[in-house]
Amino acid sequence: MSVSLVFGAQWGDEGKGKAIDFMAGQCDYSARYNGGNNAGHTVVNQLGTFKMHLIPCGVFYPHTVCLMGNGMVIDPSVLLQEMDELRAAGVNFDGRLCISRRAHLIMPYHRVLDGLYEEAKGAGATGTTRRGIGPAFADKVSYNGLRWSDVADADLFAEKLRVQLTLKNKIIVALGGQALDFDHIYTVYRGYYEKLAPYIQELFPLVQDGLAAGKTFLLEQAMGSLLDTDWGTYPFVTASSTLASAATPGLGIPPRSLTRIIGTGKAYTTRVGGGPLPTEILDPSDPARAVLTEIAATTGRTRRAGWLDLEVLRFTTQVNGATDLFVTKLDVLSVFDQIKVCTGYELDGKPVRYCDVDAYGLGKVTPVYRIMPGWKTDITQVRAFEDLPVAARDYIDLIEQEVKTPVSWVSVGAARESTIQR
Ligand code: GDP
Ligand code: IMO
Ligand code: MG
Repeated sequence: MSVSLVFGAQWGDEGKGKAIDFMAGQCDYSARYNGGNNAGHTVVNQLGTFKMHLIPCGVFYPHTVCLMGNGMVIDPSVLLQEMDELRAAGVNFDGRLCISRRAHLIMPYHRVLDGLYEEAKGAGATGTTRRGIGPAFADKVSYNGLRWSDVADADLFAEKLRVQLTLKNKIIVALGGQALDFDHIYTVYRGYYEKLAPYIQELFPLVQDGLAAGKTFLLEQAMGSLLDTDWGTYPFVTASSTLASAATPGLGIPPRSLTRIIGTGKAYTTRVGGGPLPTEILDPSDPARAVLTEIAATTGRTRRAGWLDLEVLRFTTQVNGATDLFVTKLDVLSVFDQIKVCTGYELDGKPVRYCDVDAYGLGKVTPVYRIMPGWKTDITQVRAFEDLPVAARDYIDLIEQEVKTPVSWVSVGAARESTIQR
C-alpha cells in the first residue's frame, strides 16, 4: 500500500497539477480532499492544456479511479462544465469518477455573499476568488450547509433550502443585494442532482477497501499551505485546511496510512489576492517583476511575484511533515544574471521566523537575501539532474540544505515530460 500526497508549499499555484499529472500514471486512485473551484490546477499533456478546478488531475489516465472527497465544497454548475470539457477532449471517466455524498454544495447565495462581504471589507478585503468558498465552509461548520445527501431527498432539500434562503435573503438584502428565488434554485439544484447522481456515493468503503487491498493512492491538496485557515496568513487565507493532515477529515484516510508527503514549490514565489508576500518585487521598473508575474488559472487576475522564500518552504515542509520536494518552474529563472533567494527575515533588526509574526507582522519583515549566480542557459530540454548547469544544481542544493528536505523532482516546463526525476 502506498499513499502519496502532493501539497502546495507556498501560497498556491505551485504547480500541483503538473506534479500530479506526472505521478498519477502509477496510481490506482487520484483524490481531492479540500477546497472547491477556487483551485485551478493546470495540466499540460498529450491531450492539451486543462485548468482543473474540481476533478482530480489523475483523471487523464484511463485506469485511475478519481475521488472527490467529503472535505470539498462543490459548485455543481462548474463540475458539470468541467465534465463536458473533459468529454470533449476524449476523456471518459464514467464508472471511475466518485463524488462523496457528504460533500457540501456551493449554493447561489454563497457566491452572492462572498462578493458582498468582500465589498463591505473594502481595502481590508481578502481578495477571494468570489466563488462562494468562504460562505459555503462557514455554513458547513455552523450546521447550515447542504450536502449531496440532502439534495437527494426532495422533501428534505426543500425544507432545508427554504430555511437557508429565508436567512440568507435577509442578509443579502440588508447588504444591498437582490433576494434569490426558492423555486428557481430548487429546480436547478434538483436538476444538477439528477445529472450527477450516477457519480455520487459513500466513499468510505471504497477508500478503506483500497487501503486494505494495498492499492496506490495519490492525494491532491488544493491551495497552498500558507492559505491554511489556521497556519496561513490569516485573514488572508482560504476557508478550508490546506495541510496534508486535512486528508483525514476530508477523505477518511487515516493519518498513519500516508507514506509520502510531497511539497510542490515554485523556484520563486507568487500570490493572488491580498496579504503579505515578503519577497514581492514591488518596483514596476524591475525587469524581474515582468518575468515572474503570472496570470491566475481560476480568475485570470495577476499573480503577484517575488523571489524564492526559503523561510516559507522551511515552515510549510515542517508543518506538513514533507518527505520530498517537487520544485517547479526552474526554467523561468534561466533569463537572470543573478537570482535572489530569501534565507530568513529580520524585524526591527532582529531575526524572526514565519511562526513568530502574524500576517500584519509578516508584511513588515525585511527579507535577508543571498545572491546566487544565474545559469543563462535554456534548460527546458534537460531530463537528468547531472545535465543541468552547475549554477542551477547549486540553486537546488541550496534549497535542500536550507529546507532540510530532498528535492526529488525538478520541473523545467509545463508539460508532463518536462520533468527531471532524481
Ligand atoms: P497549481 O494550482 O499548483 O496546480 O498551479 P497552477 O496550474 O495554478 O499554476 C502553475 C502554472 O505553471 C501553470 O500555468 C503550469 O502550466 C505552469 N507550470 C508548471 N510547472 C512548470 C514548469 O516547470 N515550468 C513552466 N514554465 N511552467 C510550469
Ligand atoms: P490552487 O489550488 C492561489 C486565494 C485567493 C484569496 C484567498 C481566499 O490553484 O493553488 P477563496 O476564494 O478561497 O475564499 O480566496 O485564497 N486562493 C488561491 N490562490 N491558488 C489557489 O488555488 C487559491 N485558492 C484560493 O486568491 O487570496
Ligand atoms: Mg492554481
